[in-house]
Amino acid sequence: MFRVIQIPVGGLDHNWSYLVISSDGCAAIIDPCGDSGKIRDALMNAGNITPAAILLTHAHRDHMDALNDVLEFFHAPVMGYRNLNNHQHIDMGKDNYLEVIYAPGHSYDSVLYRAGDDSALFTGDTLFVDCVGFGDSDALFHTLRYIADNFPDHITVYPGHDYGDVPAATLGELKKSNLFLRCTTIERFRRAHRMMN
Ligand SMILES: [Fe+2]
Repeated sequence: MFRVIQIPVGGLDHNWSYLVISSDGCAAIIDPCGDSGKIRDALMNAGNITPAAILLTHAHRDHMDALNDVLEFFHAPVMGYRNLNNHQHIDMGKDNYLEVIYAPGHSYDSVLYRAGDDSALFTGDTLFVDCVGFGDSDALFHTLRYIADNFPDHITVYPGHDYGDVPAATLGELKKSNLFLRCTTIERFRRAHRMMN
């Protein structure tokens, strides 16, 4: 079981950072960015935790611009595409893990993190509530189809930016409401994505 704290860190474009805490208190920070004071506050409010990892969904500057500040008060290894393998499990204490899923499209180094109990999927700039990231349309289409086909509808999608009516939504809800996730052919997706890019 995981607790997910979504932190509105501001930043260039309504970024989210996340504090993810397993039932035995192992904590990961996903995308240390924006106002590091808000990340520190979230940690203070979280109670007793053990730092396990700092995870990057990709290396765009707006998702990691508070990394150095966060490392001063959260001592954990920094992980991302460069030092993680596809489908690798990141240990989050007894019986808990986050799975790494390579997700090329928005950038070559985009990754998703899935809570091992299928309660949460952290999607960075790959999938937002109302839209998707810019980038390589064909690669992104295949990544989105992978998401649609491989994760349960009840999994909650936590994106890297606050783009949408709600801060987070289940995959089942997004399959109905997100125009890009609804594109089931590459031709339709290319057209929609081209208009956005
Ligand atoms: Fe990005």
